[in-house]
Amino acid sequence: MAREIIRGSTKPLAGELTPPGDKSVSHRSLIIGSIASGMTGVSGFLNCEDTLSTANAMRKLGIGIEINGSDVKIAGKGLSGLSEPEDVIDAGNSGTTTRLLTGLLSAQGFFTAVTGDKYLRARPMKRVVDPMRLMGAKITGREGGNKLPLAIEGGGLQGISYKLPVASAQVKSALLLAGLYSEGETEVIEPEPTRDHTERMLTYFGVKLHKKGNSIKISRQKEFAGRDISVPADLSSAAFFIVGALINPGSELLIRNVGINPLRTGVIDVLRKMGGNIEITNERDVSGEPVGDMLVKSSELHGAVIEREMIPKAIDELPVIAAAACFAEGETIIRDARELRVKETDRIKAMTAELLKLGARVTEFEDGMSISGGEPLKGARCSSWGDHRIAMAAAIAATRASGETEIDGAECVSVSFPGFFDVLRRLGNY
Ligand code: S3P
Repeated sequence: MAREIIRGSTKPLAGELTPPGDKSVSHRSLIIGSIASGMTGVSGFLNCEDTLSTANAMRKLGIGIEINGSDVKIAGKGLSGLSEPEDVIDAGNSGTTTRLLTGLLSAQGFFTAVTGDKYLRARPMKRVVDPMRLMGAKITGREGGNKLPLAIEGGGLQGISYKLPVASAQVKSALLLAGLYSEGETEVIEPEPTRDHTERMLTYFGVKLHKKGNSIKISRQKEFAGRDISVPADLSSAAFFIVGALINPGSELLIRNVGINPLRTGVIDVLRKMGGNIEITNERDVSGEPVGDMLVKSSELHGAVIEREMIPKAIDELPVIAAAACFAEGETIIRDARELRVKETDRIKAMTAELLKLGARVTEFEDGMSISGGEPLKGARCSSWGDHRIAMAAAIAATRASGETEIDGAECVSVSFPGFFDVLRRLGNY
């Protein structure tokens, strides 16, 4: 198990950074590129463990994918070009791979089995299995189909209208991918808006979707052609450095080419609400996604309440927002975030435990936590809980703690951000 050491101090975080490519968009480029007809070239691709799980899955389904650093070439075979894999698909740690593929595979007239690592095998799959069964797929798995491994016999799907019981972009995407193949119309109704990268990318490839209020409709498609995609940098990865710069006095950081999809920018809204100085410039559209540059300056933060519809827009950034709250005047309250308990680990439990070790004042709620800021933090021995975002959030809190912090199990950062600790050292010398 790899251990990383952060030497906390009041050193600023300064310079420039282009974070690695957006994980959600990178997964989708592989999946949608595979079922498009002809070549799709991807630049700015996030080459990390999670997206390689999707690439390997698509290869097992018969698609030629060449990856060269952050450049990818996908030889799409069209909607009916996938073939039955010889072996089980291993999605590793990746929930996005599993849930999006469960949608796609439910629509294929062949058998597939999907499994993952011990963390993924503990995560709920019923949320995606239920609607796929309603559409006509035969799916079995542990706990009645709630846990991996899953066995999927797909094909012959019927479109349905489905109201998601929990706001989930992964489940919405599974339904839309299945809807590409289903008889009639497939409608997804969201309780709260979630990231719309699937909708944007399908539209970019020429697929017609109908969006009205919280409903999205898709119909069975004929073929659509491959297209080049440029992936923006991942705001979820940028978020660690945004918080690092805000909490360390004297910091000034320019973060380039970051995806600013309005359904992802909850972290910016929250940090600004907490008093964070974050300026977005050079806004543009890249392959159907909004992108901008960010200038972040250290700021005096104060507490905020984060709840309701703000939660899905900041879901992956809540751990690092909790880290920021330790350095904010007053209390920060996170509510309605029960979903954090079924991420790569139970992120409410994990963040509470790690911030307490560093000396923060934190109270755990069933659906969130409260943090009383202003208590000086002290280096400690922290654990990643095998979760990339817990490792990185703890490391960012540690940059402003006195003394040394060890992060055990730090290798898991390569799930989404290989080289995270090198970048942190380059910009902050911690
Ligand atoms: C993702 C959706 C979110 C998010 C995950 C990536 C996606 O999960 O937490 O990191 O790419 O669609 P849920 O759909 O479970 O909310």
